[in-house]
Amino acid sequence: MRLVSTRSVTAGSKLAKPIYNDNGQVLLFQGAELTDRVLNRLSQLGFTFIYVQDERTDDIDIENVVREETKRKAVKTIKKEFQVIANDLNLKKTFNGDHLSKDFSKVIKAILSDIKENENALTILSDMFVYDSYIFTHSLNVTVYTLGLAVELGFNDKQMMDIGMGALLHDVGKMAIPVEVLNKPGRLNDEEFSIIQTHAKAGFDMLRNAPNLSLLTAHCAYQHHERLDGTGYPQGLKDNQIHYYAKIMAIADVFDAVTSNRIYRKSMLPHEGLELLYAGVGKQFDKTLVEAFRRTIAVYPAGLKVKLSDGRMAIVVKQNKQLSTHPVVRIIEENNIEISPSYDVDLMKQLNVTIVETETTLAASSLV
Ligand SMILES: [Fe+2]
Repeated sequence: MRLVSTRSVTAGSKLAKPIYNDNGQVLLFQGAELTDRVLNRLSQLGFTFIYVQDERTDDIDIENVVREETKRKAVKTIKKEFQVIANDLNLKKTFNGDHLSKDFSKVIKAILSDIKENENALTILSDMFVYDSYIFTHSLNVTVYTLGLAVELGFNDKQMMDIGMGALLHDVGKMAIPVEVLNKPGRLNDEEFSIIQTHAKAGFDMLRNAPNLSLLTAHCAYQHHERLDGTGYPQGLKDNQIHYYAKIMAIADVFDAVTSNRIYRKSMLPHEGLELLYAGVGKQFDKTLVEAFRRTIAVYPAGLKVKLSDGRMAIVVKQNKQLSTHPVVRIIEENNIEISPSYDVDLMKQLNVTIVETETTLAASSLV
């Protein structure tokens, strides 16, 4: 299968992986024929990249570290709990969340067991950015990235549970924001933006008095928009005033926000999201944490078409956990001529060859 930008797919291609909506329901099944109408609709819905079937790369499979079933159950639980919280707030102005701690522990344990079971755990997360992402899926994605990073950093069980809870609930304060503002497509005006910003403190207030929740969880909600140089919100905290967990969450949150499909803007590919994090190192994000994050994600996901520094064109086949910027690739073109049979090259064994372009830039240049 290949990962291609939706607007460069030729009509008649077949979908290689099902597409789900926010509720985990299948929008399009695997094998579905992609007509112009379907492709337009997918673009409108914000699906910038999709997996299509391709003879030469049929054996390439996307390694999912977190199973579909775990994801679907998790999104369902997050949705249920968030609605209970919103309901509690409406009726009693307080947040009860009786089952929250128990239900969310289960979600965290399921994600962790998937991450730990998978040998390639740390070059994972490769298909998450393909899904549509609103508050529930965003909460799940941030949790998976956060726990992946926590595993990389060697957290113990108690720390995993605390930071996992913090990640699941980091945006819970958004349940207190009017839906018209929350779901407004396009740019927000100053007033709307300051309303959105209240979600951090709102989340903190909701969580700090919740029974069975660590105060740390509440602080993750409070501080996940703070930045090292003090330009964040709501308190404008600086480097050592920001909790370590909140610094981790800032990375997971921003990465998911820029790489997920949104109706009003195009999603970035993982390496572009990572470049954005690197651009903010020392100013917004902690350097050691960004570097640890790079080791955690699949920088170039399997199925992506790339151009190598020696001019050859290739499709990413498999991740290299030790060096995610140098995956195994399948060469499909040499000197602008398609070659047959194609052959695989492990870029980790040829460090002089690097990836210089990817599908997005390639698709853009082919339009000229
Ligand atoms: Fe947030």
